[in-house]
Amino acid sequence: MKEAGFSVTVPATTANLGPGFDHLGLALSLTMTIEVATAPQWEVEYKDKEYAELPTDETNLIVQTIQQVVAKYHKTASPQKLVVSSDIPLGKGLGSSATAIAAGIEIANEVAHLQLETQDKLRIGSELEGHADNVTAALLGGLTVSYFTDEEMEVLTFPTPPIGVVILVPPVALKTEASRGLLPEQLTHKEAVRGSAAGSVMTAAIAQEDWATAGRMMERDLFHEPYRKVGFPNFDEIRVACHEAGAYGMTISGAGPSLFIAVPPTTEKQVAASLDERFPHYQAIALQPATTGAIITK
Ligand code: HSE
Repeated sequence: MKEAGFSVTVPATTANLGPGFDHLGLALSLTMTIEVATAPQWEVEYKDKEYAELPTDETNLIVQTIQQVVAKYHKTASPQKLVVSSDIPLGKGLGSSATAIAAGIEIANEVAHLQLETQDKLRIGSELEGHADNVTAALLGGLTVSYFTDEEMEVLTFPTPPIGVVILVPPVALKTEASRGLLPEQLTHKEAVRGSAAGSVMTAAIAQEDWATAGRMMERDLFHEPYRKVGFPNFDEIRVACHEAGAYGMTISGAGPSLFIAVPPTTEKQVAASLDERFPHYQAIALQPATTGAIITK
């Protein structure tokens, strides 16, 4: 029997928000939509030029995710054709791989009738990604805070924060593994305590919708920014310009190479225009946080 097709839409995400390294994620108003229909063999078609170089056969990340998920539950998935449309910049620190993994989990759940619980999807996604920040926000939408180890997983969600977002996207992509390779094996106890305090105060400030404090703490990260910022042309100058333009705070988006800027609601276009003009190396995109995570449409 040929099954009726369906589509899955998953948002882009930004991870870390500075000191929330590997455990804070925020869904953004860019999406990937995948039309799914049964086919004689696995095939992926990307509608957008930026994605043209990705594999379109069984080595594709979405297809691999589907196959890994169904195999985990000792099932098989009949081959599908996946037609992918996306406005998420690829390899630019906006969670494009987590979005693909979240989509793969949803498609596997649908085609193999797995009836996965949300908690299962969150764990599988985090295991496949290696960390929970992007994939939890991609699956659930809004802002997520995760504790993820081999033994335990806690994911809490916040209502969508009342901010605008500007993302500065440079022309060149960066692989997450390469960016993680810049990080030290160890931090001193003192640094870890200060980094955690910045993260805790930032998360508490987000809970209180005090974005002036959250934005300040976003810029106090000690877990990754000091090691990664060297790769960003004009990092400190851009940060000052963001403040001058009225932003709450600026930090690296995920592993980079984009920058995430939290701004007062409705000011994102104006801030993006001013940064676009001042830093032509980057493309400034004005966005909002996204409330909706991965969603299936039949
Ligand atoms: N937390 C991750 C990192 C996000 O910063 O490396 C990118 O996958």
